Amino acid sequence: MKIVAIVGSIRKDSLNMYFAKTMQERYQDKLDIEIADIRSLPHYDQDEENNPPQSVKDFKQSIADADGVIIITPEYNWSIPGVLKNALDWASRVEKVFIGKPVFPMGVTMGTLGTIRAQLHLREILTGLQAKQMPAAGNEILIGFANQKFDAQTGRLVDEQTLSFLDSKIEVFIDLIKTV
Ligand SMILES: Cc1cc2nc3c(=O)[nH]c(=O)nc-3n(C[C@H](O)[C@H](O)[C@H](O)COP(=O)(O)O)c2cc1C
Repeated sequence: MKIVAIVGSIRKDSLNMYFAKTMQERYQDKLDIEIADIRSLPHYDQDEENNPPQSVKDFKQSIADADGVIIITPEYNWSIPGVLKNALDWASRVEKVFIGKPVFPMGVTMGTLGTIRAQLHLREILTGLQAKQMPAAGNEILIGFANQKFDAQTGRLVDEQTLSFLDSKIEVFIDLIKTV
């Protein structure tokens, strides 16, 4: 299955990016996970939406071609980062590539609440985009206290309890994709 991962942090040592890479490696036998390049997207501009820059065309095409999307976001000031909202705004116009697309929201923070506030905002946005969201109840991937759960050398998620919960929820997401 072809999956696009959109990571809401563009910093070099992003824990959310490390999480995306952990999944890319861990599930390589069943999922082909491509991490989208949202750093190269310009600010959304309605004047440009009918003939956007190539980076926007490529981003939207990758979502259109994917069987599902995983969005992995930090929480910034109780919401999602602007870079992520910008990417979603581009994807919401002209060819509306999120309509009916299976989407699994996730998030990583060093804080206590595991990005719950950001994910609730993200789910509102995804409702506006008419995505087919992974049902929230029982399936929320809220990774708090992340500094204790990632290997400082490799940058990979190593917390066994989190990984085993994730394994089971990835199977639920695959089942959701199969229903589309
Ligand atoms: C501008 C800004 C706002 C933040 N606001 C929150 C917040 O509301 N809730 C939270 O749990 N963490 C907050 N944080 C901490 C981030 O969760 C933490 O920096 C996290 O590691 C960012 O993700 P990244 O490692 O993928 O870049 C904030 C960080 C920044 C830079």
